[in-house]
Amino acid sequence: MLIVHTAEELQNRMKSKSASLGLVPTMGALHQGHLSLVSRAANENKKVVVSIYVNPTQFNHSKDLDNYPKDIDKDIDLLKPFEKQLILYVPSHSDLYPEGIKSKKFDFGSLTAHMEGASRPGHFNGVATIVEALLVNIRPTRAYFGEKDFQQLQVIRALNQKLDLGIDIVNCPLQRAENGLALSSRNALLTKEQKSEAAVIYQTLEYLNKSATDWSVGEMELYFKSKVEAIKDFKVDYFSIASPSDLIPVSHLDSRKNYRIFVAVYAGKTRLIDTIELVRK
Ligand code: PAF
Repeated sequence: MLIVHTAEELQNRMKSKSASLGLVPTMGALHQGHLSLVSRAANENKKVVVSIYVNPTQFNHSKDLDNYPKDIDKDIDLLKPFEKQLILYVPSHSDLYPEGIKSKKFDFGSLTAHMEGASRPGHFNGVATIVEALLVNIRPTRAYFGEKDFQQLQVIRALNQKLDLGIDIVNCPLQRAENGLALSSRNALLTKEQKSEAAVIYQTLEYLNKSATDWSVGEMELYFKSKVEAIKDFKVDYFSIASPSDLIPVSHLDSRKNYRIFVAVYAGKTRLIDTIELVRK
């Protein structure tokens, strides 16, 4: 597999600058969710760049950064089926942060005011700083992001609009394990027991869509908390229902509008997020 460590090397390796290029930014510890992005990028572009970079500025605690799962050899193995089309970009800090590891400040208005933005201050400044560096340095035709991080996706769409580089942001559906748990690199930090218990998150979200169709937002939140927190060491960080366009949580539903449910749950020390479209008849 072709592995490069600097954006300059990457540019030199891109033989035909006019060929379509798909970028899949990741922090490694790849799973089937990432591979679904890579596969789509490979179908839609001549060349694909996968970046693996654990971005320090989007972590709120140094312990969380230190504990973040890393397994580059396994990542390379998982990417082997795409080898012919793929360049793996594994930058050093100085390639993406030539002036030192520091976030830029952005204003995304309501998009970053709630949920992950409220629970993880500064997180989206870190994400936007690194995604801007990747988009500007690599200039792909398309860049691929998963809907599991739905709030991140909307922030990146807003960032991309501001940058105005003509890059297409492609969103790909959240992928789940057999028991419904949303695939995430952080799942590697769960015990076997926690992994199976964490199925309660999606099961309860599904229940709210199928069987609680006339419940208020407050009732749904109470039910979600009661189911999840019945499990030892599980704690709900937030349960929010918000419109996908402005991401402002609501306390009452308007039948003319579309909504998504957004949740964050601690399973022991590991923080998991999930989101589904709210279905109401
Ligand atoms: O979703 C992720 O893995 C990261 O937030 C991203 C987009 C690669 C930026 O570091």
